[in-house]
Amino acid sequence: MYTSSRAVIDWSRSSAFAHRAAGLEPSAIREFLKLLGHPDIISFAGGIPDPELFPGKELAQAVSRIMADPARRAGVLQYAVSEGYEPLREWIAGYMSRLGVPCTTDNIAITTGSQQGLDLLGKLFLDPGDAILTTAPTYLGALQAFSVYEPTYATVTLPTEDGLGPTADGIITPGDAPPPAIAYVVPDFANPSGETVSLANRERFLDILAALDIPVIEDAAYQALRFDGEPVPPLLALDIERVGDVDRSCVIYTGTFSKTIAPGLRVGWICAARDVVQKIVLARQAADLHGSTLDQAIVHEVVSASFGKQVEKLLPVYRHRRDVMLDALARFMPPGVGWSRPEGGMFIWLTLPEHIDSNVLLRESLETKGVLFVPGPSFFPDGSGAHHIRLNYTRSDEATIVTGIQRLGSVVGRHVHEPTRHVQQPQVTVGTTP
Ligand SMILES: Cc1ncc(COP(=O)(O)O)c(C=O)c1O
Repeated sequence: MYTSSRAVIDWSRSSAFAHRAAGLEPSAIREFLKLLGHPDIISFAGGIPDPELFPGKELAQAVSRIMADPARRAGVLQYAVSEGYEPLREWIAGYMSRLGVPCTTDNIAITTGSQQGLDLLGKLFLDPGDAILTTAPTYLGALQAFSVYEPTYATVTLPTEDGLGPTADGIITPGDAPPPAIAYVVPDFANPSGETVSLANRERFLDILAALDIPVIEDAAYQALRFDGEPVPPLLALDIERVGDVDRSCVIYTGTFSKTIAPGLRVGWICAARDVVQKIVLARQAADLHGSTLDQAIVHEVVSASFGKQVEKLLPVYRHRRDVMLDALARFMPPGVGWSRPEGGMFIWLTLPEHIDSNVLLRESLETKGVLFVPGPSFFPDGSGAHHIRLNYTRSDEATIVTGIQRLGSVVGRHVHEPTRHVQQPQVTVGTTP
C-alpha cells in the first residue's frame, strides 16, 4: 500500500489560502440564524420578504407555460449568452426608462441577484488598498462582497441630529482617506438605516463624484418599495440630465427582483454605460458563464404581465407593518432610544444610548425573550456602531411585531439604566443575512 510521507494539511491554519480569503470571516450570528425557523423565536433579523406575498400562482403558471412549449423549453435549458435573457433585458430597459434612465438592452446585464453585481463590480474596480467611499452604516453584504478585493473604506456619516427623519439631509463629504477609487451608496430606504437621500443631497453627491472623477455604484435594491412621499429620481437619472446620456454617466445602477418578486429566483441586473456592461459581461463569463435562463424567463413572464400589480400588493402590507412597528417602538422603548422613520423599504434603525452594546443585547434578547435582530457593528466597515440595531418589519405579522417589540423594549429598558456589562463576547458580524 502506498503511504505518503507528506504531512496532513491543516486547513484551519493553512497559508495555502490567498490573502483575500482572510476577508471571508466566519459569522458568530450564523449560529443564531439557525434559530430563524424556530416557532418560539421572533426574528427581526434578515431583510426578508413575506413569502405569503410571493406571486406564487403567477410563478407556477409561468413555469408550466414555458416548460410546456418544446421550443421555449429547449431554449431555457440550453447554454445561453452571459448578458442575460434578451426579453427580460428589454423589459428592464423599459422599466429603467420609466425611472428617467433612457437606455437600451446594451446598457443592461442580468446578474444572479444584485449581490453578484456587487461582487463583479468589486472585481472590475478594486485593486488591493483602493478606498471605497461609502456611508457608515452601509449594507453589510456590500462590505462582504468588496472586502474580498482587499479595499480600504472612506466612510461618510449620515447626520444624526435630524437624520433620523424620513430623509437624511446632510451627507456627504469624503473623509481624509486616500482618494477613493469608487463610491457605493443605497439612496432609497437604505439597508440598514431606512434613510432616503434627498434630491438636494443626491445632486451634492454627484458634484463630489464629479470632482473626484470616480464612478459610483447606486444600489437600488429597495427602490420600488416606497410607501409614502414623493419618489426621488435615481442618481443615474440625475447624472444623465447632467451628462446627456447613460453611456457617459459615472453611475452604475444595481437592481433586483428579490424584494418585489422572490429572492430565491436570484435575478437582478446592472444598468450602466455600455462600456461598463461589456466588461461586466466578460467578468460574468469567467465567473459562471450566465445565470439560470429558466429563472430569468419565469421572472420575465411575471413582471411583463403584472409587476405593477405585484408591487401594489406589497406596499399596503409593508406600510402597515412599518406603522405597527413604529407605534410599538413608541409604546415600549424606554426614553433615550431613537429610531428612523423610513418612507419605504424593510428596515428601522435604532439608536440606543451609547453605553449599550448591541452584541450583548442580542445575546440577552435571544436567551431571555427569544427576539432576534442584527447588531449595528455588522454595518460599519470599522466594526463600530455598537449602540445601534437593525430591525426588519416585513417578515412578521402585526401581532408578532407588537409582541417582539414589547419584549425587546423590556430588554433595552434593563440596559438603559445599568451600564452594559462587557462580558467576554465574540465580535458579532453577520455572514448570511441580507
Ligand atoms: C442594499 C442591498 N443590496 C443588495 C442586496 C442583495 O439582494 P439580491 O442579491 O437578493 O438581489 C440586498 C439584500 O438584502 C440589499 O439589502
